[in-house]
Amino acid sequence: TEAWGPDDEGPRPHPGPVRVRVPAKINLHLGVGPLRPDGYHELNTVYHAIGLFDELTARRGDTLTLTMEGVGTGELALDESNLIIRAARALAARARVPAFARLHLRKSIPLAGGLAGGSADAAAALIACDVLWGLGMSRDELAEVGAQLGSDVPFLLHGGTALGTGHGEAVSPILARPTAWHWVVAIADGGLSTPAVYRELDSLRDGSWPPAPLSGPDQLMAALRQRDPEVLGAALGNDLQAAALSLRPQLADVLKAGHEAGAIAGIVSGSGPTCVFLAADAGHAQQVAAGLNAAGVCREAVTARGPQPGARVI
Ligand code: C5P
Repeated sequence: TEAWGPDDEGPRPHPGPVRVRVPAKINLHLGVGPLRPDGYHELNTVYHAIGLFDELTARRGDTLTLTMEGVGTGELALDESNLIIRAARALAARARVPAFARLHLRKSIPLAGGLAGGSADAAAALIACDVLWGLGMSRDELAEVGAQLGSDVPFLLHGGTALGTGHGEAVSPILARPTAWHWVVAIADGGLSTPAVYRELDSLRDGSWPPAPLSGPDQLMAALRQRDPEVLGAALGNDLQAAALSLRPQLADVLKAGHEAGAIAGIVSGSGPTCVFLAADAGHAQQVAAGLNAAGVCREAVTARGPQPGARVI
């Protein structure tokens, strides 16, 4: 009888290293509905991936380890609580393989910044380990694993510009002619706790009747189609902004400084404290970033383009 030959179909384990790059996200529209029984808020959001990246390298190993360099080194726990370790373990459990890898993170996305850095790193770990271990899982399967780890993980596997519903984990792409948008990202000193910002929003809303409606993304979607930065700027909106400003009143100075530096519009990114500003083109973005840096209202202002692809091997 004929022996079973090697299976030429399907992926194989990768010898490593596997390098994955993952973008940060902003929310062009973030409508927050009521608190659900499971502790999350119902969301209606438009996600947008921008050119500020973390990089995760996966090598073969006989245990699971994580090291890092860059932003947050010495501050970010590298133990079992880290979202990268949790992502690797969740994927290994799902695929019934041992969670063996040596992972190294090069971090640029600030911690607790409202840019989904933690979810981005979890997305990068899912892609890196899937390739290293030769699992060949689909993005949808990885997104299912990722949704358990952080609301923004499915989007960061996907990238681009997309609608988010549920608690953010249900992602559908927005079909539009690609337009490059120019952003300035004002990175703050120190972070804000996402749960604390949501709690602050609940207490700001407490007692108001009728309850705040969950605002839809229609106006923002229409603005995206017009491809005019002035129109997009007018449509940007974030229900968490008032809560972030309430916890960190100095953010008003950042928004004002961006306006004075000539930005078309500015908003708090997600739960903050990062603020993002829309510019007309690359040169204008440089000018706005220089103005913000001169004003001394943030740790650093950098330019970034969107949309960007999601987590992928480079
Ligand atoms: O999913 P993720 O880990 O990013 O969420 C962090 C926290 O932010 C949640 O535990 C919850 O307190 C809050 N959150 C929320 N509603 C959402 C997403 C996050 O209240 N839709």
